[in-house]
Amino acid sequence: MRLTVIGTGYVGAVHAACMAEIGHEVLGVDTDAERIAGLTCARPPFREPGLSEILRRAVDAGTLRFTTSPAEAARFGDTHFICVGTPQDPDSGVADLRYVDAALDGLLPHLRGSGYRRVLVVGKSTVPVGTAGRLAARLHVAAQDGEVAWNPEFLREGCAVRDALRPERIVVGVRSDQAEARLREIYAPLLQEGTPFIVTDPATAELVKLASNSFLATKISFINAMAEICDATGADVLTLAEAMGRDSRIGPRFLAPGLGYGGSCLPKDIRAFAALADELGQGRSAALLRQVDEINTRQRTRCVDLAQRLAGGSFADRNIAVLGASFKPHSDDVRDSPALAVADAVRRRGAQVRVHDPEAVDNARAAYPALQFALDVTKACEKADVVLHLTEWPQYQELDPAALAAVVRTPAMVDARNTLDPAAWRAAGWTLCAPGRPRLG
Ligand code: UDX
Repeated sequence: MRLTVIGTGYVGAVHAACMAEIGHEVLGVDTDAERIAGLTCARPPFREPGLSEILRRAVDAGTLRFTTSPAEAARFGDTHFICVGTPQDPDSGVADLRYVDAALDGLLPHLRGSGYRRVLVVGKSTVPVGTAGRLAARLHVAAQDGEVAWNPEFLREGCAVRDALRPERIVVGVRSDQAEARLREIYAPLLQEGTPFIVTDPATAELVKLASNSFLATKISFINAMAEICDATGADVLTLAEAMGRDSRIGPRFLAPGLGYGGSCLPKDIRAFAALADELGQGRSAALLRQVDEINTRQRTRCVDLAQRLAGGSFADRNIAVLGASFKPHSDDVRDSPALAVADAVRRRGAQVRVHDPEAVDNARAAYPALQFALDVTKACEKADVVLHLTEWPQYQELDPAALAAVVRTPAMVDARNTLDPAAWRAAGWTLCAPGRPRLG
């Protein structure tokens, strides 16, 4: 089948490459000419394991091309995936749909006479409920029997290609049997492998994404709230999480206590969901979501306070080493990174801060020019009064506590991700504190 993918950001670039990988002819569309030039040479615009290989394969085979021309997109095929970003208004939390609208606007004037009768526009962007309906009304002006469907994307950074090629479920929100049939045909290679295919209306499909991300965020904030209770009672949050997670109704995943969630999706989606609930007059439901967000942000302040206590009550004349800058390991993405928020808060409270990250230093420097960065862990930790472990890269678990104790001024560590081995660090003379584990400190 011939498909276009409009927007070649995270979701779009991965979707375009994966659709070509499963046998479709794909045209990727973006307004950013530099990005399109890179993709045309099979250069991914961001780091994602496996993406450059499938991109290269499809570009070399001629099954994946890229353009900046919406007219070319309208002529290329009859199914158009919209994968553009939906950034957030910083004040209201409401999703900004201007790029979604612009993607459709680009197509509309060229649809008439494109030679294709039934145009199917498939939204993948995360949007408020009702967006598909609103876009459909505009599409009908240009293509009367056209349809707007919604097909949310659940991929995680770092495993996006695997998530796209082996999804745990595919959700499609459609208005007609024809749209369902076309989406079944597009995803047939994945469905043959037994992927559940959930068919619903566009509004439910739009909600699934916000509800799923909000639930994941709630799980993380729940265990972080438990960590606060553990700190107040002397209980241990890691054992608590393990014992809870063994209940198959709860499950162990997304119960890792620590600094909380960041990244481009969970923080934005929960705020967008709360704003939507308010708009719909469902303020009481929004209150739950706001609590989740508040608990999450509070973990950052708790970490800064803990570091300050370990530093002797004040950051004046103190060197603080920060291990980790990306919002999660195996990613160079620093958007809403809890690690950098903490590093910057510590700097603003008067400390000298040096940050290390295996992959994200360039992005971190661009986002936080006032912070200092070190290219290796030893340099970051030289003469440190407190070391903060803020993103759980596996290499930090391999560090030699004795060797590091020799370079710091005071061997004091905040393991804000709860992944270091306390026994090994304490045996090497470190004071190690971690959220929800008061008996360590
Ligand atoms: C998330 C969703 O998982 C994905 O389905 C959606 O499409 C996009 O948003 P992503 O942002 O890539 O994916 O990251 P994810 O692996 O879900 O982690 C999100 C954040 O939660 C990270 O900052 C991570 O450190 C944090 N986290 C995760 C915890 O603090 N505790 C946990 O137990 C799990």
